[in-house]
Amino acid sequence: MCGIVGYVGPRRDDRAQQVVMEGLARLEYRGYDSAGIALVADGEVATRKAAGKLANLRAALENAPLPPSAAGIGHTRWATHGGPTDANAHPHRGGTDGRLALIHNGIIENFHSLKTELLADGVEFTSETDTEVAAHLVARAYEQTGDLTEAMRAVVNRLEGAFTLLAVHADAPQTVVGARRNSPLVVGLGDGENFLGSDVAAFIGYTKQAMEMGQDQIATITPTSVEVIGFDGQPAQGARFEVTWDAAAAEKGGYATFMEKEINEQPHAVGDTLLGRTDSAGALVLDEVRISEDELRAVDRIVIVACGTASYAGMVAKYAIEHWTRIQCEVELAHEFRYRDPVIGANTLVVSISQSGETMDTLMAVKHARELGAKTVSICNTHGATIPRESDAVLYTHAGPEIAVASTKAFLAQITACYVLGLYLAQLRGGTHADEAQAVMRELAQVPEKIETLLGQMDRVKEIAYFMADTRSVLFLGRHVGYPIAMEGALKLKELAYIHAEGFAAGELKHGPIALIEPGQPVFIVVPGPDTPHGLHHKVVSNIQEIRARGARTLVIAEEGDEDVVPFADEVIRIPATPPLLAPLLSVVPLQVFALELATAKGLDVDQPRNLAKSVTVE
Ligand code: G6P
Repeated sequence: MCGIVGYVGPRRDDRAQQVVMEGLARLEYRGYDSAGIALVADGEVATRKAAGKLANLRAALENAPLPPSAAGIGHTRWATHGGPTDANAHPHRGGTDGRLALIHNGIIENFHSLKTELLADGVEFTSETDTEVAAHLVARAYEQTGDLTEAMRAVVNRLEGAFTLLAVHADAPQTVVGARRNSPLVVGLGDGENFLGSDVAAFIGYTKQAMEMGQDQIATITPTSVEVIGFDGQPAQGARFEVTWDAAAAEKGGYATFMEKEINEQPHAVGDTLLGRTDSAGALVLDEVRISEDELRAVDRIVIVACGTASYAGMVAKYAIEHWTRIQCEVELAHEFRYRDPVIGANTLVVSISQSGETMDTLMAVKHARELGAKTVSICNTHGATIPRESDAVLYTHAGPEIAVASTKAFLAQITACYVLGLYLAQLRGGTHADEAQAVMRELAQVPEKIETLLGQMDRVKEIAYFMADTRSVLFLGRHVGYPIAMEGALKLKELAYIHAEGFAAGELKHGPIALIEPGQPVFIVVPGPDTPHGLHHKVVSNIQEIRARGARTLVIAEEGDEDVVPFADEVIRIPATPPLLAPLLSVVPLQVFALELATAKGLDVDQPRNLAKSVTVE
């Protein structure tokens, strides 16, 4: 949701604009309905803003270039208060002659009362945003104190909600001040220059040295200094870290889209998430654990909270975690969990899954779980993000930066990490499945190669997608771990191709969805491998027969060598044979490719689908 970048350097030239615009390009996945930039120069703040994608802002800058500058801020927006117009785009100005410029990610919940107060004082507003309230307040506080950091501090203590704010002032040509509460902000530490960003992608082209900012902190950056204080005014320290990936990882690397690149990176996403998970004695290890082993042994219930694709990773994991640990495991959408008065106790382990580590619904669920006394584990792809910081333990997925809005490689890495967690708990608690943990880890280690093989045989899936470009509805059926995969396949198609798509549990078919089947209706069926317990393979083959008999066009995803499906399939899409619980890491791949190709055939922007944003930092 909204991308934020700030820069200060030693000289007045075009570097500030270049850094800010490059940062915005890397952050555009966070929001792309408008963008803007402010540079401090010649004793004034100059801004340009444009509704629409970043290309419009680039054009505005070409038409009306900004002066050389040593400091600037930039913003790419996902609208909350006020539509995506030029006027509502950030930065917003405040103070006499608009000498302050401010950008914002999040929502200021008490903006209405603050705005009423400012209006009564004669302040004129030029936008419908909550952000403009903060711009006027900080500017007025600055006029009283003459200190931008103190002005920011005075204002953040009056704001309610979630926000990252960045401000520059005409009086301070080499200073940017940033503040955060429940919304992300990291500092980039350069050589004679410093950066602020919503995430490290904002400045990865310039430095890999970064510093996490804690909750309720303010950073003041100049070319040679970074000072951090708390909202209470006390000095604070951020934790330094080195970014482990480089700028190339955040570029398309020869692929037409980020999504295509990220689908092709999935073997690495799974392989890297498995790396370094065992100690010298062969026992599984997690990344950052601040829960004792005794507390983990006492866990009697696991609740997974997540949103979107991450929640489907959780649904897949439930099957494996219950099987291996014999601990009851539930999966709940984070926003539903938070507001339904859940029964949670000291022996409940709440596992959050979030690629960004910022999704506000998930963050609020984690905080609520902690308030209720639960232990919390975060499965996250973004180092130092808010959710892992708010959790008792962290298991990082090592998928690398995911830029395309629709999640692919993070999904596979999330399932992998959940499996590592499940096996870790099984090992810790002993019992029948503890000894199996190493064997499952060995099977998991073979999955990256199988995904690679599978990616090499996607030509037919691409052809099917192109032939189906005019399709108006696609159904997806799955059973056991294939059920959440059916849901994920449908979600991918909705997100990318804007067509009606529904995922169903195959067993539920006869209880309603079968009424949707009419001649020609395309249906993907994720078939459990023949080794799946309880004869589920045969049950799903029967389902295929039932819908085929009613005219459905059956697109069957089945294991190599599974000949039972052939008589009833219009198309068979093969996946390499693998143990049943690991099959989702393969069966989702053709569905991702299908959605990507169908959306491409329709001429749609697959990396930035309409109305969506990569990380949703508002509730
Ligand atoms: C948004 C994205 C989805 C993502 C979901 C959860 O809705 O568009 O792709 O699955 O948020 O994001 P998270 O960062 O918490 O995994």
